[in-house]
Amino acid sequence: MNRRAYIALFLPLVAFGVGQLFTGAQDPHQRYGKDDAEWTRWRMGELCTEEGVYFTGSGNCVNCHAPDPNGHALVDENGATVSPVSDWQATLMANSARDPFWQAKVDHEGLVNPTHRESIENLCTACHAPQGYHEAHMTGNAGPNGYTLEDLLDDELGLDGVGCTACHGIDNDNLASRHNGDLPINEENVAWGGFENPWDGLMSGQTGFIPAYGEHMRTSEVCASCHSLYTHTQDLEGEETGEVFFEQTTYLEWVNSAFNAENVQCQTCHMPLVEGGAIAATQPNWLFPQRFGKHHLVGGNAFMLKLMRDNAVQLSLSASPTQFDSTIARTVASLQRETARLEVQQLASETGEWAFAVEVENLAGHKFPSGYPARVAFLEFVLTDGQSDTLFHSGRWSEDEGIAGRDDEWEPHWNEITSEDQVQIYELVMGDVSGANTQVLERADIILKDNRLVPRGFSTLHPVYDTVQVGPMAALDLDFNRRNDEEGSGTDRLIYRVQADPSVSSVEATVTLHYQAVPAKWVSALFEYSDQSDRIAAFESMYNAADRTPVVVASKAAKGWPGFDPEASDWRVAPNPVAAGDALRLIPAGTEQPVEIRLIDMRGRVIRTLDLDEALGGHNVADLEAGAYLLHLVFEESQQSIRWLKN
Ligand code: HEC
Ligand code: HEC
Ligand code: HEC
Ligand code: HEC
Ligand code: HEC
Repeated sequence: MNRRAYIALFLPLVAFGVGQLFTGAQDPHQRYGKDDAEWTRWRMGELCTEEGVYFTGSGNCVNCHAPDPNGHALVDENGATVSPVSDWQATLMANSARDPFWQAKVDHEGLVNPTHRESIENLCTACHAPQGYHEAHMTGNAGPNGYTLEDLLDDELGLDGVGCTACHGIDNDNLASRHNGDLPINEENVAWGGFENPWDGLMSGQTGFIPAYGEHMRTSEVCASCHSLYTHTQDLEGEETGEVFFEQTTYLEWVNSAFNAENVQCQTCHMPLVEGGAIAATQPNWLFPQRFGKHHLVGGNAFMLKLMRDNAVQLSLSASPTQFDSTIARTVASLQRETARLEVQQLASETGEWAFAVEVENLAGHKFPSGYPARVAFLEFVLTDGQSDTLFHSGRWSEDEGIAGRDDEWEPHWNEITSEDQVQIYELVMGDVSGANTQVLERADIILKDNRLVPRGFSTLHPVYDTVQVGPMAALDLDFNRRNDEEGSGTDRLIYRVQADPSVSSVEATVTLHYQAVPAKWVSALFEYSDQSDRIAAFESMYNAADRTPVVVASKAAKGWPGFDPEASDWRVAPNPVAAGDALRLIPAGTEQPVEIRLIDMRGRVIRTLDLDEALGGHNVADLEAGAYLLHLVFEESQQSIRWLKN
């Protein structure tokens, strides 16, 4: 094992066990008693039951795919429900057309560019209201400028969001190269699924939709067309420049990752399989368990799910508060368990300063954050004297100010942070044709900053790289997506340097990674138009009433000692000599941890044995006479003696 690996192993042990700050995010597995299931089914009666030519409302799937009052079908081996209807109903995709942020943003884009308002709305509805959009286009009922917000607000099939038949009607037709919601919807009302030989004695009779096995349902390509979004740049007068901007590239980021090669699909993470399978329908009653993908479909947007739960009546949402709570808990659990890993370790530093290296590792199958350009993740770094005094604080968040120290225009990407007004924020910052930061999607022309953490295996040489580029500053950072000079680590490493107060004898550094889906700074451009749109005004008041506290993704702490040298092979003591009144401190080298520490006088007598934490933090030797002593460290396979003087 090389030295670096040893350090990595050792320091987390020394780290004062903050480890994981977060509390109790559980993945809820709802169990339904007979009454609950009946009640849930009744609630589901509020889902859309409209029947179109190519799509049908998700309420028409409730009869056989909602929770089973008998607890027999659609349950896992522990009896918890895996009903696709109850899981899907409180997700963002189910509520994408009623999402108040989305509706407000569609208005905003139209107000900024009034001459193409309808064609913009036709773009926005393609992914957020796919059933309404495609039904209108496929039946020739869309208006001259397409399917608009006004059309949608009067169309139950569109308001059903990304409904069951929006995904299940996608044919296997050149899926990898599609984008902007260009879905190849089959015209024969086939509902493709992930298991072979489904029994169709009931479903097509009741719904008009025929269950069939489609291998493509098991791959990322079925998600590609809605999770790849290119816009046609408009200048400040609203004229198209002919340039294309890659606004959302979650699918392409995944293509350029190790997960692609390892056959880890979107579904692997976002629709985990039920172990041992599940019975897919509540009737007939003689079905047997099949492969079953849970329709969890959560990302990071706990904020909007809470806002939806709290305004469900006003927004006419059908999911119950309990369903929203389950989806929120799954989202938080995914952020805290599956999203990122943090390391923090002290570096050797010049006297007079503390230096810590922080490494963030992205575990998601695409950039983190990914998707909509408002999303941010940021690092908070706090250095204390181990007790109550804060010596340095970068990335402090408050409801009023947002992220403290963030520059007005945008915050640069940092390799090294030396002052409290510098903060590491992982984000996409879009610029318009004049080079100014913009939140208007249709005006996006250039990447001013994109230091979102890339997925493991991401390469600048990949054929799709030009669609998923890293922004200018992060591209120049030699620690970004590189470990030991090798590209593809999915990590970023940066250093915090803080002037030391000589009277402080040890410190504790705590680093926390936060995620925020809808930051106040990003939506403020939208709220400037709230007097011109009821939908923007309505969203603004819901936003202001919501809890905007970022979600803690990961947190880690480490202790620091003056004079620490991770490259040294020998442990030391400091200060040496120890003046009367000073404490004796053991300074670790970057190797393993001693199993015993003995304080020995020059005649070879063991005076006492020390506890490691105490030795590292400072052991009081006021009671010892002046003279020479030894500190004897016993390791698993070796020993070391350190000679030191008491004055
Ligand atoms: C290619 C499909 C697609 C199109 C077209 C599209 N969107 Fe989206 N939109 C998405 C996806 C996918 C997300 C969610 C990504 C995420 O969670 O980060 C999203 C998220 C959003 C959000 C954030 C919602 C929230 O709750 O946080 C807003 C606002 C939004 N879109 C507005 C628009 C507007 C305005 C348009 C038209 C100009 C548009 N979208 C067109 C796919 C699309
Ligand atoms: C009358 C009952 C009934 C209704 C209503 C119903 N289904 Fe089904 N569904 C079934 C049965 C039965 C199966 C096959 C189960 C089996 O073979 O084990 C099935 C299977 C499926 C499959 C799996 C296909 C595969 O091969 O993986 C999908 C997808 C599906 N249904 C979607 C839907 C959608 C979408 C709706 C609403 C439009 C719907 N179902 C409504 C009874 C129903
Ligand atoms: C975002 C797209 C999406 C939506 C929306 C969606 N499904 Fe699915 N569904 C899938 C995919 C993908 C699979 C295949 C998963 C697998 O087997 O790996 C699937 C599988 C299924 C299956 C069969 C189990 C399996 O794993 O093959 C049934 C039944 C089903 N869905 C019903 C529904 C119903 C009912 C709804 C609406 C309440 C719905 N789905 C909404 C994408 C979706
Ligand atoms: C290795 C597991 C993994 C794979 C594979 C994966 N994801 Fe994710 N995804 C995550 C995790 C974890 C999050 C939450 C962190 C985040 O927001 O990025 C997430 C978040 C998201 C978000 C919300 C992003 C944001 O920050 O707003 C979207 C949208 C998404 N995934 C879509 C996809 C699609 C589409 C695919 C396939 C092309 C995919 N994911 C593949 C793990 C995965
Ligand atoms: C018909 C278009 C469409 C398809 C197909 C689609 N999505 Fe989405 N997806 C969306 C839209 C629109 C949103 C954003 C909704 C919003 O925030 O209002 C979204 C949001 C998401 C999110 C973010 C949720 C969150 O909590 O942040 C995840 C994760 C996701 N989709 C995964 C998938 C996966 C996996 C597939 C393929 C199995 C898929 N999507 C297929 C349109 C689609």
